[in-house]
Amino acid sequence: MNLSHIEHLGIAVKNLETAILYYENVLGLKCYSIEEVPSQKVKTAFFKIGDTKIELLEPTSEDSTIAKFIEKKGEGVHHIAFATNDLPGALKEAEEKGVQLIDKAPRPGAEGLEIAFLHPKSTQGVLTELCFDPNK
Ligand code: CO
Repeated sequence: MNLSHIEHLGIAVKNLETAILYYENVLGLKCYSIEEVPSQKVKTAFFKIGDTKIELLEPTSEDSTIAKFIEKKGEGVHHIAFATNDLPGALKEAEEKGVQLIDKAPRPGAEGLEIAFLHPKSTQGVLTELCFDPNK
């Protein structure tokens, strides 16, 4: 699998405004985008740090997977996302190597990326996202 870098870390938060204040006022990062992703029932806020981003995820509905995550585990790191230049190839390789896929095919994510998730059962408990940026 040809991964280039950590594209982002996804962090589940109860309240986006409160979380943004921490990232801006304490860590000194700048929120450059707030985007609602209705298909995933989340509102996201993005920060850049080097080649990597932080993606804050606030649930917009009680049946959002992020709401269920927070209910079960509390706020915290939700997923790690790796950048790949061949998402279908990476998914095929993962499946061939016995990894359980959440997404068998790429689907649209925030920021115009194509994304797919690997099941945490196959990844030592870390929900893993693979991303391809079609605009690069
Ligand atoms: Co993500």
